[in-house]
Amino acid sequence: LWQNVPLAPPDSIFQLTAAYKADTFKDKVNLGVGAYRDNDNKPWVLPVVKRATAILLNDETLDHEYLPILGLPEYTAAAAKLILGADSAAIQEARAVSAQTISGTGANHLGALFLSRFYNWNGPPKVYISNPTWANHFAIFRNVGIEPVEYAYYDPKTIGLDFTGFIAALEAAPERSVFLLHACAHNPTGVDPTEEQWKAIAQVIGAKKHYTFFDCAYQGFASGDLDKDAWAVRYFVDQGLPLLVCQSFAKNAGLYGERVGALHVVSTNSETANRVKSQLSVLQRSEISNPPSHGARLVSLILNNAELFEEWRRDIRTMAERIIQMRHELYRLLTQELHTPGNWDHIINQIGMFSFTGIKPSQSQALVEVAHVYLTANGRISMAGLNTHNVEYFARQLDAVVRG
Ligand code: LMR
Repeated sequence: LWQNVPLAPPDSIFQLTAAYKADTFKDKVNLGVGAYRDNDNKPWVLPVVKRATAILLNDETLDHEYLPILGLPEYTAAAAKLILGADSAAIQEARAVSAQTISGTGANHLGALFLSRFYNWNGPPKVYISNPTWANHFAIFRNVGIEPVEYAYYDPKTIGLDFTGFIAALEAAPERSVFLLHACAHNPTGVDPTEEQWKAIAQVIGAKKHYTFFDCAYQGFASGDLDKDAWAVRYFVDQGLPLLVCQSFAKNAGLYGERVGALHVVSTNSETANRVKSQLSVLQRSEISNPPSHGARLVSLILNNAELFEEWRRDIRTMAERIIQMRHELYRLLTQELHTPGNWDHIINQIGMFSFTGIKPSQSQALVEVAHVYLTANGRISMAGLNTHNVEYFARQLDAVVRG
């Protein structure tokens, strides 16, 4: 049995974590996985999460019963307000339906599965994804029979957005195509459209009747401000564009292991929304039956309590600001101390957890193999892996590979 099962390669991101852990070199640096670290390279349990955990521990009314199939209602309702806006017309008109999911990956999966069953496809099912994108998007869509097709997004010449190519791809795609857009803090490039560019993108999407599949894994990480980072999603909803949003609390609440996320589908009216909800419920039942309760209870407490919510906003700013400081320090080292060849403005212009350095795969490989600096082959670095103790070491190693 299983003689014909081919050996699969390890996951490109999590194999870096394993290799980093196994490395005994004292100055090793992990810039692979997008997970926040404090200035001492330690995972950071957000103070607000500690407070919420203590509240849950002392709550005698809680039990271990099943949650409803679509999740903890007070969690999904608050999560919808967080991304769509507390005064969202879609919420007030009961046009938005939400399902609690196994973090952002589960939201992507449920959203993709729902589309694979019910979207009014214009030919064989396809999803347009940015080139590049989070590597897992390929597998998630292929798993449900939707073929990923890349659209122009990143311009290696400017290490910025290929806005013209992006718009051309939206225009060239057949009507009613499905486009996956990163709502903010694009993974892996850290390059987002400006508000003006988002407006132009929305305009073409509306004209071509495309469907928007928003992936929002980093709300709060782009600017440090939860509302600002939701701007594109809210703008699209205001324009009446049909869309869904995948949401994750892994990064912004530091709840990586709890797998707490949500899928929000915004429909044109409440009657359609009800039908969508009924089918999401059927799909979820066959896949996981009921989502897990602990993470949802924690996030629900934080979102529904004004004091905890304010504390969470401060915690998010702490993370976002530390990352921004690291961007400035890396930029200073490369440009003012080491005079590293090339233009490094993108280090401070890109936003969110990641920076796309623009180095070649051979240079990334040299960093891993020679310098014990772990990063993905596409040159993406997780800025959260840098701190005041290791940024200089990293800058020197990067300088060395760039000089060849
Ligand atoms: C990443 O891109 O590093 C994170 O989103 C972690 C993951 O699941 O790949």
